[in-house]
Amino acid sequence: MSDDTTENWGEDVNPRQAIRKLQPGKLVIASHNPGKVREIHALLGPLGIEPVSAAELDLPEPEETGTTFVANAELKALQAADLSGLPALADDSGLCVEALGDEPGIFSARWAGESKDFGVAMQRVQDRLAALPEGTSRDAHFVCALALAWPDGHVEWFEGRVHGCLVWPPRGENGFGYDAMFVPLGGEQTFGEMDPDAKHAISHRAVAFAQLVAAVL
Ligand code: IMP
Repeated sequence: MSDDTTENWGEDVNPRQAIRKLQPGKLVIASHNPGKVREIHALLGPLGIEPVSAAELDLPEPEETGTTFVANAELKALQAADLSGLPALADDSGLCVEALGDEPGIFSARWAGESKDFGVAMQRVQDRLAALPEGTSRDAHFVCALALAWPDGHVEWFEGRVHGCLVWPPRGENGFGYDAMFVPLGGEQTFGEMDPDAKHAISHRAVAFAQLVAAVL
């Protein structure tokens, strides 16, 4: 792409200034996961936002047909905004293992199968890594994409990451998903061993929410 595209922005059109602000009032949380809704409530409630869950409004859960975290977050947020007539926030997250070409990625929840057994999902990651040559990197990162959509189709999105490496066997009873095999960069404990507040201070979700709060509130 040539640099010409930037010439038409004009002097006073800074793309960061063009971000749409979220006004105080109701915000649909496009998730049927009560844990996520509670977390978002704690974060945005004090800022004058009244989170309402998609479940409370009886909104359907769309199929996650996107090929990226952002695309999946966006389709969930747009559907909820369209059906409710209110601004809506959705997230999509997962674990990307670098030596596995960033798998499981958007399929992180699906690797746990119907029974949602993350012992099985972590074992699958470990088996795939163990099949690679000795010394292969165990670097991985969690990604959290957030999409904020309005009923007129406008969307703002944000993405947070936390880098680290994978250990085996899993350690710690805190957290969920792949937490017990992930040690954040510079740390020694897995997310599963860490105090939940310490994890929440540095997680991919915290980074994405900090971006959202700084940009739209
Ligand atoms: P979704 O964002 O609800 O579609 O699910 C993402 C999946 O990624 C979860 O089911 C977990 O398996 C995994 N995941 C996302 N964030 C975390 C995390 O903070 N710790 C551990 N696993 C996570």
